[in-house]
Amino acid sequence: MVEYRVRNIKLAQEGKMKIDWAEKHMPVLMKIRDEFRRLKPLKNVTIGACLHVTKETAVLVKTLKSGGATVALCGSNPLSTQDDIAAALAEEGVSVFALRGESNDEYYWCLNKVLDFKPNITLDDGADLISTIHLKKRELIPYVYGGQEETTTGVIRLRAMERDGALRYPVLAVNDTPTKNMFDNIYGTGQSTIDGILRSTNVLLAGKKFVICGYGHCGKGLATRARGMGSNVIVVEIDPLRALQAVMDGVSVMTMNEAAKEGDIFVTVTGNKNVIRKEHMELMKDGAIIANSGHFNVEVSVGDLVELTKGRRTIRPNTEEFELRSGRKIYLLAEGRLVNLASAEGHPSEVMDMSFSDQALTCKYIVENHKKLEPKVYDVPSEIGNRIAKLKLESMEIQIDELTEEQKKYMLSWAEGT
Ligand SMILES: NC(=O)c1ccc[n+]([C@@H]2O[C@H](COP(=O)([O-])OP(=O)(O)OC[C@H]3O[C@@H](n4cnc5c(N)ncnc54)[C@H](O)[C@@H]3O)[C@@H](O)[C@H]2O)c1
Repeated sequence: MVEYRVRNIKLAQEGKMKIDWAEKHMPVLMKIRDEFRRLKPLKNVTIGACLHVTKETAVLVKTLKSGGATVALCGSNPLSTQDDIAAALAEEGVSVFALRGESNDEYYWCLNKVLDFKPNITLDDGADLISTIHLKKRELIPYVYGGQEETTTGVIRLRAMERDGALRYPVLAVNDTPTKNMFDNIYGTGQSTIDGILRSTNVLLAGKKFVICGYGHCGKGLATRARGMGSNVIVVEIDPLRALQAVMDGVSVMTMNEAAKEGDIFVTVTGNKNVIRKEHMELMKDGAIIANSGHFNVEVSVGDLVELTKGRRTIRPNTEEFELRSGRKIYLLAEGRLVNLASAEGHPSEVMDMSFSDQALTCKYIVENHKKLEPKVYDVPSEIGNRIAKLKLESMEIQIDELTEEQKKYMLSWAEGT
């Protein structure tokens, strides 16, 4: 019997329609599903997934099931679970443990329920399954063939574990594959962060000073879109190369102390902690809006904001007004958690089509190759990414050129001069 814990099973029909919509916009993953259905590459494999429970994740889970896997799923963030999707998956026979707004204790209860399945493959978005197995459930390590990590911060942690000799099973860094980070982080986070801010506040972006902390993949995508909406973008960085790139992309670069005084809207996408803290909040204008689209809920120091505050209220869904003792008001979106997932629906299906195709094919790769893999962080083999890019182009009916024999030879030769 399938076990599940969801907010309201009666939401299943609503969730099913959203999943149908996502399937229509994820042609590559659907093609992989057809192949999985025929070849069953994941037969007898148990997959434990700790991912944002969205309609796109549901398409991935259904694909893994079509490949023969048993899948147990929990949310990777207490505010990103879409309860109707969780209900639809439960009704489809997936063991899903996820409730939007779950407490920290409930979050770990759900995660441990997934681990009770003794997964052979772990799918993480923030390394929570892997860390729990390594720190608290080491008896599960022998069952695990390998893991996958979906996000930048998770990969950074896993590389640190590898460096310390603490990693006990192989992990494929799905985040680092170009078909993930060149599309999901840039176009997905770029668009969905704006979507989250607008759904929470409905403010006009044109003419606003839009401060972006972190000019990596996510920051660049967000900056392009904010500029496209008419905002004046200000970037805060700690890396000289990234800062220089921002300058040459035509945006202002300044320190957080300077930006704090200027900005109307602040978004963190650094993967770091306490990037916006007390000393910055004290400088902010009345009405400043703060959101995080980077890592968990640690980039904005909510504790500092609370310390400065004399009164607070939820003024709109996912928008909390903090009245500071100085009399100024600051608005925090989605409790400082990922605004694109908490206030909107996360990345559009079209980009998750590629990220989750990476995940599906990497599951197959782990099953076929785990005996050869060591407890290290591996890049996803480039053939997987190339195949996905080709399938995506095909789905868009776009053709590209091929090298001629003469060009292939030229690219490989060193003797031919000017
Ligand atoms: N919201 C989402 O759905 C979503 C999607 C993808 C990635 N992410 C997360 O977003 C974060 C950024 O991902 P990325 O791929 O852009 O990473 P990245 O490494 O490409 O970029 C991060 C940038 O932040 C800068 N930075 C670090 N500390 C800083 C500080 N204190 N002040 C200013 N800048 C600082 C770094 O120099 C770097 O340029 C990660 O935590 C990642 O997990 C979120």
